[in-house]
Amino acid sequence: MKTVHSVRELRAAVAAARRQGLRIGLVPTMGNLHAGHIALVETARRHADFVVTSIFVNPLQFGPSEDLATYPRTLAEDSRQLNEAHCDLLFAPAVAEMYPKGMDGLTRVNVPEVSEGLCGARRPGHFEGVATVVTKLFQMAQPDVAVFGEKDYQQLAVIRKLVQDLDMPIEIVAQPTVRATDGLALSSRNGYLDDGQRASAPCLYSLLRRLADQLAAGAAVEPTLASGVAELQAQGLRVDYLELREQLSLQPAGPATTALVLLVAAYLGQTRLIDNLSFRRRPGV
Ligand code: PAF
Repeated sequence: MKTVHSVRELRAAVAAARRQGLRIGLVPTMGNLHAGHIALVETARRHADFVVTSIFVNPLQFGPSEDLATYPRTLAEDSRQLNEAHCDLLFAPAVAEMYPKGMDGLTRVNVPEVSEGLCGARRPGHFEGVATVVTKLFQMAQPDVAVFGEKDYQQLAVIRKLVQDLDMPIEIVAQPTVRATDGLALSSRNGYLDDGQRASAPCLYSLLRRLADQLAAGAAVEPTLASGVAELQAQGLRVDYLELREQLSLQPAGPATTALVLLVAAYLGQTRLIDNLSFRRRPGV
């Protein structure tokens, strides 16, 4: 695997691959790679001939009180894992390469509707930061296909809408969430959890599964969600949201909505965890 740090080198490597008639895949990440990221690379390999992974901890998507300074940066180990996963090119730019004129006055990309509510409401500016950096990465790498994880469900919806609204000729592929054996969704932020917190973290996914079963069987939405929040609070989590939405639009689910997704965000100590579960409810249940 070749590693490049500049947009110029990235463009040259992608252009060379294109001249060979290869289909280009992009896996945007912020590094500190785990099995969930490697699954993204493997999926990209199935959809493309030349896979580029980007590692960039994007300051634009972190709020002022968030973990930008402490976000784990593990480039050497990430590079080893990508090499093993047969990634073709690692693009690891510095902040000055991505934002050479700084971030004040930068043109930004705002994706309305799907960015609102859920994490968008709790992390103001977050999805604008994501949409802006992903647009830049798409412009730089010009991929045919890009792969994003379903764990960041709202982010995936934002990127799908971004690509559709701005006519970007890029296929967006969703990668199902990779979980630890106890059900916890893999995330770089899991590394912040102490042993006790790590032991209780799988309660998020087990709750989602139980609530999804109840809702699919026709349980009333509001009391079911309220009981879920109370259960998480009783286990010491601080709940940011627990909501039921329509799968594609992410609009609040009405009684006739059949394609549903439950989304949760909650703090265990200082660590904010998110998870989601898609399911269907038969009409008339
Ligand atoms: O999901 C992430 O790691 C980031 O939000 C992304 C898509 C790489 C943009 O910085």
